[in-house]
Amino acid sequence: MYARITAFFMSGTGNSYKVAKWFSESMEGLHTGLHQIREQQTTVTTGDNDLLVFSYPTHGFTAPWLMIKYIFRLPAGNGVHAVLLPTRAGTRILGLSLPGMEGTAGYLIAGLLWLRGYKVRGVAAIDMPSNWTALHWGLSDKNVKVIVDRGEQKVKRLAQTIALGRSFYNGFIPLVLGVLLAGVSFGYLIIGQMLLAKLFFASDKCNGCSLCKQICPKQSIQMLGNKPYWTYSCDSCMACMNFCPQRAIQVSPFTLFLYNYIGTIPVYFWISGNLGWSFIGQLPGSIWFLIQYVYILSSVALMYRLLHHVLRIKPLAALLSALSHTKYFRRYKSPGVSLGNIHRTD
Ligand SMILES: Cc1cc2nc3c(=O)[nH]c(=O)nc-3n(C[C@H](O)[C@H](O)[C@H](O)COP(=O)(O)O)c2cc1C
Ligand code: SF4
Ligand code: SF4
Repeated sequence: MYARITAFFMSGTGNSYKVAKWFSESMEGLHTGLHQIREQQTTVTTGDNDLLVFSYPTHGFTAPWLMIKYIFRLPAGNGVHAVLLPTRAGTRILGLSLPGMEGTAGYLIAGLLWLRGYKVRGVAAIDMPSNWTALHWGLSDKNVKVIVDRGEQKVKRLAQTIALGRSFYNGFIPLVLGVLLAGVSFGYLIIGQMLLAKLFFASDKCNGCSLCKQICPKQSIQMLGNKPYWTYSCDSCMACMNFCPQRAIQVSPFTLFLYNYIGTIPVYFWISGNLGWSFIGQLPGSIWFLIQYVYILSSVALMYRLLHHVLRIKPLAALLSALSHTKYFRRYKSPGVSLGNIHRTD
Protein backbone atom coordinates (compact mmCIF):
# COMPACT_ATOMS: atom_id res chain seq x y z
CA MET A 1 0.00 0.00 0.00
CA TYR A 2 2.83 2.40 0.83
CA ALA A 3 6.09 2.86 -1.03
CA ARG A 4 8.01 4.15 1.95
CA ILE A 5 7.73 5.11 5.62
CA THR A 6 9.08 8.52 6.45
CA ALA A 7 9.22 8.96 10.20
CA PHE A 8 9.84 12.26 11.97
CA PHE A 9 10.72 12.55 15.60
CA MET A 10 11.18 15.39 18.01
CA SER A 11 12.86 13.95 21.06
CA GLY A 12 14.70 15.36 24.05
CA THR A 13 15.67 12.09 25.72
CA GLY A 14 14.91 9.39 23.14
CA ASN A 15 11.38 8.20 23.93
CA SER A 16 9.78 9.63 20.82
CA TYR A 17 12.72 8.49 18.69
CA LYS A 18 12.16 4.92 19.90
CA VAL A 19 8.43 5.10 19.15
CA ALA A 20 9.05 6.39 15.61
CA LYS A 21 11.66 3.66 15.08
CA TRP A 22 9.52 0.82 16.48
CA PHE A 23 6.63 1.83 14.24
CA SER A 24 8.78 2.08 11.10
CA GLU A 25 10.52 -1.22 11.74
CA SER A 26 7.20 -2.97 12.33
CA MET A 27 6.05 -2.11 8.80
CA GLU A 28 8.13 -4.89 7.33
CA GLY A 29 9.46 -4.73 3.80
CA LEU A 30 9.14 -0.98 3.51
CA HIS A 31 12.08 1.32 3.12
CA THR A 32 12.14 3.74 6.03
CA GLY A 33 13.76 7.04 6.81
CA LEU A 34 14.02 8.56 10.30
CA HIS A 35 14.40 12.32 10.57
CA GLN A 36 14.97 14.51 13.58
CA ILE A 37 12.76 17.59 13.85
CA ARG A 38 14.84 20.56 14.82
CA GLU A 39 14.92 24.31 14.32
CA GLN A 40 16.01 25.49 10.88
CA GLN A 41 16.29 22.02 9.45
CA THR A 42 15.64 21.69 5.73
CA THR A 43 12.36 19.93 5.02
CA VAL A 44 12.58 16.31 3.93
CA THR A 45 11.11 15.49 0.51
CA THR A 46 8.21 13.06 0.70
CA GLY A 47 6.45 11.07 -1.99
CA ASP A 48 2.70 10.67 -2.67
CA ASN A 49 2.82 7.04 -1.58
CA ASP A 50 4.72 7.67 1.65
CA LEU A 51 3.24 7.10 5.05
CA LEU A 52 4.44 9.87 7.35
CA VAL A 53 4.87 9.02 11.03
CA PHE A 54 5.31 11.73 13.65
CA SER A 55 6.36 11.11 17.23
CA TYR A 56 7.03 13.89 19.74
CA PRO A 57 6.66 14.48 23.48
CA THR A 58 3.61 15.94 25.18
CA HIS A 59 4.41 19.21 26.93
CA GLY A 60 1.84 21.00 29.09
CA PHE A 61 -0.99 18.72 27.85
CA THR A 62 -0.33 19.71 24.25
CA ALA A 63 2.29 19.53 21.48
CA PRO A 64 5.57 21.47 21.85
CA TRP A 65 6.13 24.65 19.79
CA LEU A 66 8.80 23.01 17.64
CA MET A 67 6.32 20.35 16.54
CA ILE A 68 3.53 22.85 15.87
CA LYS A 69 5.85 25.02 13.79
CA TYR A 70 7.23 22.04 11.88
CA ILE A 71 3.83 21.18 10.43
CA PHE A 72 3.88 24.54 8.63
CA ARG A 73 7.30 23.76 7.17
CA LEU A 74 6.02 20.59 5.48
CA PRO A 75 4.97 20.75 1.83
CA ALA A 76 1.20 20.75 1.14
CA GLY A 77 -0.21 17.30 1.91
CA ASN A 78 -2.15 16.44 -1.27
CA GLY A 79 -3.77 13.51 0.53
CA VAL A 80 -0.53 11.93 1.82
CA HIS A 81 -1.25 9.69 4.82
CA ALA A 82 0.06 10.43 8.32
CA VAL A 83 0.10 8.70 11.71
CA LEU A 84 0.61 10.59 14.97
CA LEU A 85 2.19 8.95 18.00
CA PRO A 86 2.80 11.57 20.70
CA THR A 87 4.55 10.18 23.76
CA ARG A 88 3.45 11.03 27.28
CA ALA A 89 4.60 10.51 30.85
CA GLY A 90 3.86 6.98 31.90
CA THR A 91 4.89 6.25 35.44
CA ARG A 92 4.77 3.47 38.03
CA ILE A 93 4.05 3.91 41.71
CA LEU A 94 4.17 0.88 44.05
CA GLY A 95 3.94 -1.48 41.09
CA LEU A 96 0.92 0.32 39.66
CA SER A 97 1.24 1.69 36.12
CA LEU A 98 -0.25 5.15 35.65
CA PRO A 99 -0.81 6.70 32.22
CA GLY A 100 0.27 10.19 31.19
CA MET A 101 -2.13 12.80 29.86
CA GLU A 102 -1.57 13.98 26.31
CA GLY A 103 -4.52 16.37 26.21
CA THR A 104 -4.59 18.02 22.79
CA ALA A 105 -1.08 16.87 21.76
CA GLY A 106 -2.34 14.37 19.18
CA TYR A 107 -5.43 16.02 17.75
CA LEU A 108 -3.96 19.53 17.58
CA ILE A 109 -1.28 18.24 15.22
CA ALA A 110 -3.87 16.06 13.45
CA GLY A 111 -6.00 19.17 12.84
CA LEU A 112 -3.04 21.14 11.52
CA LEU A 113 -2.03 18.30 9.21
CA TRP A 114 -5.60 18.04 7.95
CA LEU A 115 -5.60 21.78 7.24
CA ARG A 116 -2.37 21.29 5.28
CA GLY A 117 -4.03 18.61 3.16
CA TYR A 118 -2.82 15.39 4.84
CA LYS A 119 -5.03 12.43 5.61
CA VAL A 120 -4.51 11.36 9.22
CA ARG A 121 -4.85 7.58 9.58
CA GLY A 122 -3.93 7.22 13.20
CA VAL A 123 -3.65 9.13 16.47
CA ALA A 124 -2.56 7.40 19.69
CA ALA A 125 -0.47 8.48 22.65
CA ILE A 126 2.22 6.11 23.89
CA ASP A 127 3.18 5.95 27.56
CA MET A 128 6.93 6.22 27.96
CA PRO A 129 8.91 7.03 31.10
CA SER A 130 8.52 10.65 32.14
CA ASN A 131 11.63 12.68 31.31
CA TRP A 132 10.82 15.86 33.22
CA THR A 133 14.08 15.82 35.18
CA ALA A 134 13.70 19.48 36.17
CA LEU A 135 10.62 18.48 38.14
CA HIS A 136 11.02 14.99 39.47
CA TRP A 137 13.40 12.19 40.26
CA GLY A 138 14.03 9.81 37.34
CA LEU A 139 12.29 6.42 37.40
CA SER A 140 14.21 3.30 38.43
CA ASP A 141 15.64 1.05 35.69
CA LYS A 142 13.07 -1.63 36.55
CA ASN A 143 10.10 0.72 36.16
CA VAL A 144 11.58 2.19 33.00
CA LYS A 145 11.84 -1.29 31.50
CA VAL A 146 8.24 -2.19 32.30
CA ILE A 147 6.91 1.04 30.76
CA VAL A 148 9.15 0.85 27.68
CA ASP A 149 8.26 -2.81 27.00
CA ARG A 150 4.55 -2.00 27.12
CA GLY A 151 5.09 1.01 24.89
CA GLU A 152 6.85 -1.15 22.32
CA GLN A 153 4.04 -3.74 22.31
CA LYS A 154 1.45 -1.01 21.82
CA VAL A 155 3.36 0.61 18.95
CA LYS A 156 3.73 -2.77 17.21
CA ARG A 157 -0.03 -3.40 17.51
CA LEU A 158 -0.77 0.03 16.05
CA ALA A 159 1.63 -0.58 13.15
CA GLN A 160 -0.16 -3.87 12.51
CA THR A 161 -3.50 -2.02 12.37
CA ILE A 162 -2.17 0.30 9.67
CA ALA A 163 -0.54 -2.59 7.78
CA LEU A 164 -3.97 -4.29 7.67
CA GLY A 165 -5.44 -1.18 6.03
CA ARG A 166 -7.33 0.03 9.10
CA SER A 167 -7.10 3.30 11.04
CA PHE A 168 -6.98 4.15 14.75
CA TYR A 169 -8.13 7.25 16.60
CA ASN A 170 -7.51 6.84 20.34
CA GLY A 171 -7.57 9.25 23.23
CA PHE A 172 -10.94 11.03 23.18
CA ILE A 173 -11.11 11.38 26.99
CA PRO A 174 -7.63 12.98 27.17
CA LEU A 175 -8.72 15.19 24.25
CA VAL A 176 -11.79 16.41 26.15
CA LEU A 177 -9.65 16.98 29.27
CA GLY A 178 -7.09 18.74 27.09
CA VAL A 179 -9.74 21.08 25.70
CA LEU A 180 -10.94 21.80 29.25
CA LEU A 181 -7.32 22.46 30.22
CA ALA A 182 -6.62 24.53 27.09
CA GLY A 183 -6.00 27.60 29.27
CA VAL A 184 -3.22 25.72 31.08
CA SER A 185 -1.69 24.58 27.76
CA PHE A 186 -1.90 28.08 26.33
CA GLY A 187 -0.35 29.56 29.49
CA TYR A 188 2.38 26.92 29.31
CA LEU A 189 3.16 27.67 25.65
CA ILE A 190 3.29 31.45 25.98
CA ILE A 191 4.73 31.90 29.49
CA GLY A 192 5.48 28.65 31.30
CA GLN A 193 8.08 27.13 29.04
CA MET A 194 9.85 30.47 28.63
CA LEU A 195 10.19 30.88 32.37
CA LEU A 196 11.19 27.24 32.79
CA ALA A 197 14.19 27.96 30.53
CA LYS A 198 15.25 30.72 32.91
CA LEU A 199 15.46 28.26 35.78
CA PHE A 200 18.32 26.34 34.13
CA PHE A 201 21.85 27.21 35.16
CA ALA A 202 25.27 25.60 34.80
CA SER A 203 26.84 24.64 38.10
CA ASP A 204 30.50 24.83 39.07
CA LYS A 205 30.94 21.38 37.43
CA CYS A 206 30.49 22.90 33.93
CA ASN A 207 33.72 22.77 31.91
CA GLY A 208 32.42 24.82 28.99
CA CYS A 209 32.45 21.90 26.52
CA SER A 210 29.38 23.40 24.75
CA LEU A 211 27.78 20.01 24.04
CA CYS A 212 24.48 21.36 25.39
CA LYS A 213 24.56 24.17 22.82
CA GLN A 214 25.39 21.80 19.98
CA ILE A 215 22.62 19.32 20.67
CA CYS A 216 19.80 21.73 21.50
CA PRO A 217 17.12 21.10 18.83
CA LYS A 218 15.79 24.62 19.29
CA GLN A 219 19.20 26.36 19.16
CA SER A 220 18.21 27.97 22.43
CA ILE A 221 21.58 27.92 24.17
CA GLN A 222 24.30 30.49 23.67
CA MET A 223 27.74 30.17 25.20
CA LEU A 224 28.42 33.40 27.09
CA GLY A 225 31.77 33.58 28.85
CA ASN A 226 32.28 29.84 28.27
CA LYS A 227 29.02 28.94 30.08
CA PRO A 228 25.63 28.06 28.62
CA TYR A 229 22.99 30.77 28.64
CA TRP A 230 19.37 29.72 28.04
CA THR A 231 17.25 31.97 25.82
CA TYR A 232 13.47 32.26 25.75
CA SER A 233 13.06 29.95 22.74
CA CYS A 234 13.78 26.80 24.81
CA ASP A 235 11.09 24.10 24.51
CA SER A 236 12.09 22.37 27.77
CA CYS A 237 12.82 19.11 25.93
CA MET A 238 15.32 18.17 28.69
CA ALA A 239 18.06 17.09 26.24
CA CYS A 240 20.70 19.45 27.62
CA MET A 241 20.00 18.56 31.24
CA ASN A 242 20.05 14.82 30.68
CA PHE A 243 22.97 14.59 28.25
CA CYS A 244 25.41 17.03 29.92
CA PRO A 245 28.47 14.78 30.52
CA GLN A 246 29.26 16.61 33.79
CA ARG A 247 25.66 16.57 35.10
CA ALA A 248 26.26 20.29 35.50
CA ILE A 249 22.83 21.56 34.44
CA GLN A 250 20.55 22.23 37.36
CA VAL A 251 17.27 23.90 38.18
CA SER A 252 16.73 25.61 41.50
CA PRO A 253 13.51 26.95 43.02
CA PHE A 254 15.78 29.50 44.68
CA THR A 255 16.04 31.34 41.33
CA LEU A 256 12.23 31.64 41.33
CA PHE A 257 12.54 33.25 44.75
CA LEU A 258 15.10 35.73 43.35
CA TYR A 259 12.90 36.60 40.38
CA ASN A 260 9.89 37.09 42.60
CA TYR A 261 11.44 39.05 45.43
CA ILE A 262 14.07 41.05 43.61
CA GLY A 263 12.08 41.60 40.41
CA THR A 264 8.60 42.15 41.76
CA ILE A 265 8.59 43.55 45.27
CA PRO A 266 10.53 46.81 44.57
CA VAL A 267 8.28 47.49 41.57
CA TYR A 268 5.20 46.71 43.64
CA PHE A 269 6.22 49.27 46.28
CA TRP A 270 7.17 51.84 43.65
CA ILE A 271 3.72 51.58 42.01
CA SER A 272 2.00 51.67 45.41
CA GLY A 273 3.91 54.83 46.42
CA ASN A 274 3.80 56.71 43.11
CA LEU A 275 0.83 55.62 41.01
CA GLY A 276 -1.49 53.70 43.32
CA TRP A 277 -3.35 50.69 42.01
CA SER A 278 -6.65 52.34 41.01
CA PHE A 279 -5.43 52.86 37.41
CA ILE A 280 -5.54 49.09 36.85
CA GLY A 281 -9.32 49.10 37.18
CA GLN A 282 -9.48 51.56 34.27
CA LEU A 283 -7.33 49.39 31.96
CA PRO A 284 -8.93 46.73 29.74
CA GLY A 285 -8.00 43.23 31.05
CA SER A 286 -6.06 42.39 27.88
CA ILE A 287 -3.86 45.50 28.19
CA TRP A 288 -3.13 44.71 31.85
CA PHE A 289 -2.23 41.13 30.85
CA LEU A 290 0.09 42.45 28.12
CA ILE A 291 1.81 44.85 30.53
CA GLN A 292 2.40 42.05 33.03
CA TYR A 293 3.56 39.68 30.26
CA VAL A 294 6.14 42.12 28.92
CA TYR A 295 7.20 43.08 32.45
CA ILE A 296 7.67 39.51 33.66
CA LEU A 297 9.62 38.42 30.60
CA SER A 298 11.87 41.48 30.55
CA SER A 299 12.55 41.58 34.30
CA VAL A 300 13.34 37.86 34.35
CA ALA A 301 15.60 38.30 31.29
CA LEU A 302 17.49 41.10 33.05
CA MET A 303 17.93 39.20 36.29
CA TYR A 304 18.84 36.01 34.48
CA ARG A 305 21.60 37.86 32.66
CA LEU A 306 22.90 39.21 35.98
CA LEU A 307 22.69 35.78 37.57
CA HIS A 308 24.63 34.31 34.66
CA HIS A 309 27.54 36.64 35.38
CA VAL A 310 27.35 36.17 39.15
CA LEU A 311 27.47 32.39 38.68
CA ARG A 312 30.86 32.66 37.02
CA ILE A 313 32.13 32.95 40.60
CA LYS A 314 32.59 29.23 41.25
CA PRO A 315 31.70 29.11 44.98
CA LEU A 316 28.40 30.89 44.22
CA ALA A 317 27.61 28.42 41.42
CA ALA A 318 28.42 25.58 43.82
CA LEU A 319 26.14 27.10 46.46
CA LEU A 320 23.18 27.52 44.09
CA SER A 321 23.78 23.99 42.85
CA ALA A 322 23.73 22.64 46.41
CA LEU A 323 20.39 24.40 46.89
CA SER A 324 18.92 22.81 43.77
CA HIS A 325 16.78 19.69 43.97
CA THR A 326 18.00 18.41 40.60
CA LYS A 327 21.55 17.95 41.86
CA TYR A 328 20.19 14.91 43.66
CA PHE A 329 18.01 13.63 40.79
CA ARG A 330 18.95 10.73 38.56
CA ARG A 331 19.15 11.70 34.85
CA TYR A 332 16.95 10.03 32.25
CA LYS A 333 17.83 8.72 28.79
CA SER A 334 15.63 6.29 26.97
CA PRO A 335 17.32 2.85 27.27
CA GLY A 336 19.48 1.86 24.32
CA VAL A 337 19.39 5.33 22.75
CA SER A 338 22.67 7.12 22.23
CA LEU A 339 23.21 10.82 21.84
CA GLY A 340 24.15 10.34 18.18
CA ASN A 341 20.82 8.57 17.50
CA ILE A 342 18.69 11.54 18.43
CA HIS A 343 20.75 14.73 18.35
CA ARG A 344 23.04 16.18 15.76
CA THR A 345 26.16 17.58 17.37
CA ASP A 346 27.29 19.86 14.54
C1 LIG B 1 8.37 20.27 30.20
C2 LIG B 1 7.66 18.95 30.11
C3 LIG B 1 6.28 18.90 30.13
C4 LIG B 1 5.61 17.67 30.07
N1 LIG B 1 4.26 17.66 30.06
C5 LIG B 1 3.60 16.48 29.99
C6 LIG B 1 2.18 16.43 30.00
O1 LIG B 1 1.49 17.45 30.02
N2 LIG B 1 1.58 15.21 29.97
C7 LIG B 1 2.30 14.05 29.92
O2 LIG B 1 1.70 12.97 29.91
N3 LIG B 1 3.65 14.06 29.86
C8 LIG B 1 4.31 15.25 29.91
N4 LIG B 1 5.70 15.26 29.87
C9 LIG B 1 6.44 13.99 29.72
C10 LIG B 1 6.97 13.75 28.29
O3 LIG B 1 5.98 14.06 27.33
C11 LIG B 1 7.39 12.29 28.10
O4 LIG B 1 8.28 11.87 29.08
C12 LIG B 1 7.97 12.05 26.70
O5 LIG B 1 7.94 10.67 26.43
C13 LIG B 1 9.38 12.55 26.51
O6 LIG B 1 9.78 12.21 25.21
P1 LIG B 1 11.23 12.42 24.59
O7 LIG B 1 12.20 11.57 25.38
O8 LIG B 1 11.11 11.95 23.18
O9 LIG B 1 11.56 13.88 24.67
C14 LIG B 1 6.36 16.47 29.96
C15 LIG B 1 7.76 16.52 29.94
C16 LIG B 1 8.40 17.74 30.03
C17 LIG B 1 9.90 17.77 30.00
S1 SF4 C 1 26.57 22.55 30.92
FE1 SF4 C 1 27.43 20.54 30.54
S2 SF4 C 1 27.23 20.23 28.31
FE2 SF4 C 1 26.93 22.43 28.72
S3 SF4 C 1 28.97 23.36 28.48
FE3 SF4 C 1 28.75 22.85 30.65
S4 SF4 C 1 29.65 20.79 30.87
FE4 SF4 C 1 29.28 21.11 28.68
S1 SF4 D 1 17.76 24.47 25.92
FE1 SF4 D 1 17.82 22.36 26.66
S2 SF4 D 1 15.72 21.92 27.31
FE2 SF4 D 1 15.65 23.78 26.06
S3 SF4 D 1 15.15 23.06 23.98
FE3 SF4 D 1 17.40 23.20 24.15
S4 SF4 D 1 18.10 21.17 24.77
FE4 SF4 D 1 15.88 21.28 25.14
